Amino acid sequence: MDVQQTSRFTLTRNSQAVAADRRAVLLEDPGFGRIFTDHMVVIRYTEGRGWHSHGVVPREPFQLDPACAVLHYAQEIFEGMKAYRLEDGTVAMFRPEENARRFADSAERMAMPVLPEEIFLEAVEELVKIDADWIPSGEGSLYLRPFLFASEAFLGVRPAAEYIFCVIASPAGAYFKGGKKAVTLWVSEHYTRAARGGTGAAKCGGNYAASLVAQKEAIAQGCDQVVFLDAAENKWVEELGGMNVFFVMEDGSLVTPPLGGTILPGITRASIIDLARAKGHAVHEERYSFAQWRDDAASGRLREAFACGTAAVVTPIGIVKSANGDFTVGNGDGGLVTEALRAELTGIQRGTVADPANWLRRL
Ligand code: PLP
Ligand code: COI
Repeated sequence: MDVQQTSRFTLTRNSQAVAADRRAVLLEDPGFGRIFTDHMVVIRYTEGRGWHSHGVVPREPFQLDPACAVLHYAQEIFEGMKAYRLEDGTVAMFRPEENARRFADSAERMAMPVLPEEIFLEAVEELVKIDADWIPSGEGSLYLRPFLFASEAFLGVRPAAEYIFCVIASPAGAYFKGGKKAVTLWVSEHYTRAARGGTGAAKCGGNYAASLVAQKEAIAQGCDQVVFLDAAENKWVEELGGMNVFFVMEDGSLVTPPLGGTILPGITRASIIDLARAKGHAVHEERYSFAQWRDDAASGRLREAFACGTAAVVTPIGIVKSANGDFTVGNGDGGLVTEALRAELTGIQRGTVADPANWLRRL
């Protein structure tokens, strides 16, 4: 076996890595989350010992005890981030420090040990380096999925004493099958995602498990994504199943729901706020009701709306459906503000647009 020591990680190369010609075929149309690279990062945590056994290893299944705590009480968190191949051939990631910080915040909320942010960053970089041939060219990217789960075999309800941190990578194209075309949303007026004091701001698997029935309803209604309203009043727009949301008004101002503990503090969301302000748009982080959304779409006060996130990038919102009828936002396929923000964000991510805040981290 080919084993090497790189920084704090022991590297074991995959002797059965996918051949270059087969990889090229897979990269032609990667879709989202369907194909995976040859390696993964694994770090273990044991109470009293801390983080140990840092490895870059061939990607393979885990062997888990049936009493493994994550299988029973869902003590699990994850991140989503991307590596890009720039025009000059170098590889870069977009604001990975923000993912490291949010991962630490999620760990605290879920009573899990906090992986030091520099180890999170090293782990992700080690995987990107060894699997760099898997980064699609053109508009594609390598989606990285760091995650941490409770691996202790124990049925008592308490924070586990053992954990596994892992990073896997998946070449990705567009998240939605329509690519950059506008998506159709279903407003869930029955199911909510998160309440005050809950886990809405943490990126934990449980939030997504709870969202699936609403997302299933959205698909059954012919929609791409679900929109959640707040749990207290069932009135205020919160976010989509896997992305944040922005509204573009006729005066050029933007509105986005505020961070209050019930929505995910998206890194794309934060970046869009900065980019929009730099372009001269007023951005209001304030509550916006579903009723207002419908009225503003009808009156024309609302011109555009878009979803944003690592997977979705910036995707226009076209039709909004609910149990009480449907409406269309603007011309139904985005607009100039959405397109300009998307172009600026993706330009920075790909190194073709100036990056004054140093968001790009080159490897
Ligand atoms: N909201 C939810 C529920 C998400 O899953 C995501 C995706 O990660 C986002 C928002 C957007 O976050 P980010 O821009 O950091 O990817
Ligand atoms: C991401 O954008 O990274 C997410 O986790 C959202 C999910 C819909 C893939």
